[in-house]
Amino acid sequence: MDLGLTGKIVFVTGGSRGIGRATAVAFAREGAHVAFSYQSERGMAEETCAAIAAVGGTALPVRLDLSDPASMTDAVETVRARWGGIDVFVANAVQWPSALPDPERRFEQVPPQEWRDLLRPNVEGAVAVLQAVLPAMRGRRDGRIVLISSDVARHRGPGQPGLGIYGMSKAALTGLANGLIAELGGEILVNIVTPGFTVTERNLAVMPQHLRDRQAAHTPTGRLSTPEDVARAIVFLGSPANGNITGETLNVTGGV
Ligand SMILES: NC(=O)c1ccc[n+]([C@@H]2O[C@H](COP(=O)([O-])OP(=O)(O)OC[C@H]3O[C@@H](n4cnc5c(N)ncnc54)[C@H](OP(=O)(O)O)[C@@H]3O)[C@@H](O)[C@H]2O)c1
Repeated sequence: MDLGLTGKIVFVTGGSRGIGRATAVAFAREGAHVAFSYQSERGMAEETCAAIAAVGGTALPVRLDLSDPASMTDAVETVRARWGGIDVFVANAVQWPSALPDPERRFEQVPPQEWRDLLRPNVEGAVAVLQAVLPAMRGRRDGRIVLISSDVARHRGPGQPGLGIYGMSKAALTGLANGLIAELGGEILVNIVTPGFTVTERNLAVMPQHLRDRQAAHTPTGRLSTPEDVARAIVFLGSPANGNITGETLNVTGGV
């Protein structure tokens, strides 16, 4: 299937590694021009540029900090100056919790500074980045936005203690998308992708093999998602091949 992405301008936040890098490369493979952001890992961003060049694509790395709205307008202006606008926006960058969840710590013990440091970039940052990007998307054909949430925003039951604030920041994207689809209608389609636990470099570093094996054993497909699995879902929803799907959530979780 031709996804219709040749020559489209794509902007992926958090493209220096993980799901964002796989997404940037996958869009480039489809013939899109790909801008992507990094926050601090310039060297990783250069690796993404090399991966995009390896599939014959053109890449534009820009620095963007979810806590700094000026960095967002600067990033968008850089993309505009190079390519004239943005057709597809993928809100993928994330501020992770500063430490891994401590199952022994009670919710009421989380200091306000700690949870605010997560909500500001992930919730306020999502609003600010969309406000920066939308003017560059208006009036173009085939506008597409894909917001990257997480399965922790919809899980109930055991298994995820200590992730409530992070999950809350991701669940907020659902309300945001509902408002956007009503406003943007057919001009820009807006969808959400929710990855489950994905085998990124970061997760390989922080989660021991035996816990990954246990997680895979509880996954109906019998394996964890790769960044490329998630990227393919994002690329489809972010392409003109997605003709009339808006306001939907696509779970890439192996059936969890
Ligand atoms: N991996 C999973 O298992 C999983 C599961 C569910 C949902 N998700 C979601 O999928 C998305 C990608 O996750 P990932 O695991 O691929 O992430 P990752 O590999 O840790 O990469 C995070 C990206 O975000 C950037 N970033 C970090 N803090 C930032 C900030 N404050 N402002 C701007 N950019 C910042 C990083 O830039 P630098 O490289 O410069 O630091 C990097 O490009 C996220 O929205 C995440 O919530 C992931």
